[in-house]
Amino acid sequence: MTILIAGGAGFIGSTIASACSDEGLPTVILDSLVTGRREFTRDRPFYEGDIADGELVDRIFAEHPDIDAVIHCAALIVVPDSVSDPVGYYRANVTKSLEFVAHLLRNGCERMIFSSSAAIYRAGEDFSVDEDSGIDAQSPYARTKAVCESMFADIAATAPIRILSLRYFNPIGADPKMRTGLQLRRPSHALGKMIGAMEEGVPFQITGTGYATRDGSGIRDYIHVWDLAAAHVAALRRFDGLFADGRSSTVINLGTGTGTTVKELLDAFNSVVGTPITAVVTGPRPGDVAGAYTRSDRAERLLGWRPRYSVAEGIRDSLDWAAIRDEILTPRA
Ligand SMILES: NC(=O)c1ccc[n+]([C@@H]2O[C@H](COP(=O)([O-])OP(=O)(O)OC[C@H]3O[C@@H](n4cnc5c(N)ncnc54)[C@H](O)[C@@H]3O)[C@@H](O)[C@H]2O)c1
Repeated sequence: MTILIAGGAGFIGSTIASACSDEGLPTVILDSLVTGRREFTRDRPFYEGDIADGELVDRIFAEHPDIDAVIHCAALIVVPDSVSDPVGYYRANVTKSLEFVAHLLRNGCERMIFSSSAAIYRAGEDFSVDEDSGIDAQSPYARTKAVCESMFADIAATAPIRILSLRYFNPIGADPKMRTGLQLRRPSHALGKMIGAMEEGVPFQITGTGYATRDGSGIRDYIHVWDLAAAHVAALRRFDGLFADGRSSTVINLGTGTGTTVKELLDAFNSVVGTPITAVVTGPRPGDVAGAYTRSDRAERLLGWRPRYSVAEGIRDSLDWAAIRDEILTPRA
């Protein structure tokens, strides 16, 4: 069973590739390197190019006729960029995904796992969601994910392909063996900002304390990226069984089931680092939302998967990765 990973030079895709390799599943990587890194593709077949490039996809399948499933992680993911350039984001994430799935169908690919996002949900009053919660994406980026899910469901309803959308919550951490991690030096999520504040010796900014959460700060479901990767391996192993009832597309949440507020994340961060960082409260940034966490047990029931890493371990691995990142990733020209 060989797995084609589109976007396999990125943060999550490269971690999935390592998890597959560790479990004896060979992988092939297709990535344009628009945000991904060549360093993350070493040790496995790598095709540099676009998912919409039909000739390239045909060549990959011709050279690897044993590809049994595709994991589609390729996307642009920066929410503010999607607000300023919706045309570019719909083209990159929706149009190219449509082209890609058409290329997959032409090459007889029958199984696809799609990297979706929990950002598509409308959270309930307690901020918990399950797969049946309402969809109410709050940004063009998140809407591209919701549109892709619907588009894939329509296609799988008639074409000979089955599609599993995995809705990720908030990935943190790095490959525990430190082969890969976040490419960005200054990630814009709360943990990235905490690491930045620590490195620069400045206070961390808590952006908004007026939410209806237990302490007023935003709430997230932080899932270790290695747990995410392990869930993909489990999904590949159980893929056909997920569709035994005749359905052709389905969705599963991938989170820990525990909501962590920004203030709680800060406490966890300070319990891990030697010298605690200070914090100041500022207003919310444009586009900020209160957040959500999963209350679903579907991943455990259907995949036999449960997250193993704590938030503190995710913080520890993010810090370890930040410390060695520049040794592994050569500066970009
Ligand atoms: N990081 C998160 O917080 C998060 C949360 C939920 C869902 N996701 C989804 O997970 C997937 C992976 O995200 P990530 O955090 O690893 O981001 P990333 O930017 O590190 O990885 C995306 C990869 O896709 C590649 N890519 C983009 N467009 C491409 C194209 N047209 N053709 C070929 N390659 C292309 C990039 O070069 C990059 O390597 C994305 O689909 C994203 O929407 C991420």
